[in-house]
Amino acid sequence: MKIAVIGTGYVGLVTGVVLAELGNDVICVDKDPVKVEKLRKGIPPIYEPGIEEMLRKALNEGFMTISTSIAESVAASEVVFIAVGTPPSEDGTPDLTAVRIVATEIGKAINKPTVVVNKSTVPVGSGTMVEEIIAAQGVPAELFDVVSNPEFLREGSAIHDTLHPDRIVIGAKRRDAAMKLVELYANLESPMIITDLNSAELIKYASNSFLALKISFINAISRICEVSNANVSDVAKGMGTDKRIGPQFLQAGLGWGGSCFPKDVLGMHSTAKRYDYDFALLQEVININDDQTLHFVRRIEKRLGGLEGKRIGIMGLAFKPNTDDIRDAKSLIIVDAILKAGGKINAYDPIATENFRELYPDLDYKKSVYEVPVDADALVVVTEWNEFKQLDLARIAESMKQKVLFDGRRVYKKEAAERAGLEYFTIGSN
Ligand code: UDX
Repeated sequence: MKIAVIGTGYVGLVTGVVLAELGNDVICVDKDPVKVEKLRKGIPPIYEPGIEEMLRKALNEGFMTISTSIAESVAASEVVFIAVGTPPSEDGTPDLTAVRIVATEIGKAINKPTVVVNKSTVPVGSGTMVEEIIAAQGVPAELFDVVSNPEFLREGSAIHDTLHPDRIVIGAKRRDAAMKLVELYANLESPMIITDLNSAELIKYASNSFLALKISFINAISRICEVSNANVSDVAKGMGTDKRIGPQFLQAGLGWGGSCFPKDVLGMHSTAKRYDYDFALLQEVININDDQTLHFVRRIEKRLGGLEGKRIGIMGLAFKPNTDDIRDAKSLIIVDAILKAGGKINAYDPIATENFRELYPDLDYKKSVYEVPVDADALVVVTEWNEFKQLDLARIAESMKQKVLFDGRRVYKKEAAERAGLEYFTIGSN
């Protein structure tokens, strides 16, 4: 099939390379000429395991071209994906400016039957908005369809998630349009949920909000565990073995961050408000998440008797492992709080350091993890990178000024840390 994918961020580029891998003719479109030049050379603008190899393969084998022109790409394609950003605006509602601009360009370019697929995360009703924008460019209704096909990929395992989705959601007004996507995804052998446009849009928001709720729930339980001498990992295991609850997304820690959950929970909340429903539960999900990180900082502060003049080692800056993404990362909140309280920071991340340096140029960035604890008053695990899991804790303890470990992701066993001479604090157990 001839496909155009507009936007080469996480969602767009992953969608593009996977569709090329499935044997389609894909044009990836971006307005940024620098990005386009890099992509043409096989250099992806994002870090994601496996993407570079797949991009190069798709380019070399001729399944993918890269373009800056929406008009030319739409004219050459039967299915056009919109995969542009929808960042939150001041009031929490997603900013749909990029979607509107792209929809207008698509409308101007359509000259034959075209299925326009919205992959960007958008509030319910946005598909209809795209339809109206395209129609306003003079395109007759019988020449195009707008379909919602939300993306559920996780950063760090985006390729795997796209090739092996739990389900594919397709929301369309006309059956023919939905069938076009069924045909496109047939080889993935995944369950397909075919529904109307609005339900498909809501599925995405509802799913991400529910996952964030699950994490906030276990984090609230972690607070009770800390004061009642219970162990949150055991509680989560006991809950998660109930098939109705399930074990996933019950890992207590510093809370959820990243490019999706914060934006989508706010988006769901503001969408509810637009329909006159006060989704107070979601507000509480956000409150628990915000306080989870601050509570951890308060514990560090209390143990050290204030942070003024103290050196803190930060292990991990990315919002989660296997990505260089620091959007809404817990490291930002923790680093900010330490600096404001007069502390100093040693920091290390396997790949997110350069992104962090742009925001905080003056931290003491380290080239290897063993340099982080040197002369520190406390060591704080913020991201659970695999590389952190097998460290020599005795070597770490030896190099520290005060042998205090705050494990924000429950990476280590208390006994092992104590055997190495470290005072160990974590989330959800004593
Ligand atoms: C998420 C959704 O999983 C994905 O379906 C959607 O398309 C985009 O948003 P992503 O943001 O890449 O994906 O990461 P995910 O692995 O879901 O983690 C999100 C956040 O929750 C991270 O900050 C992570 O540290 C945190 N988390 C996750 C927990 O604190 N505990 C858990 O048990 C799981």
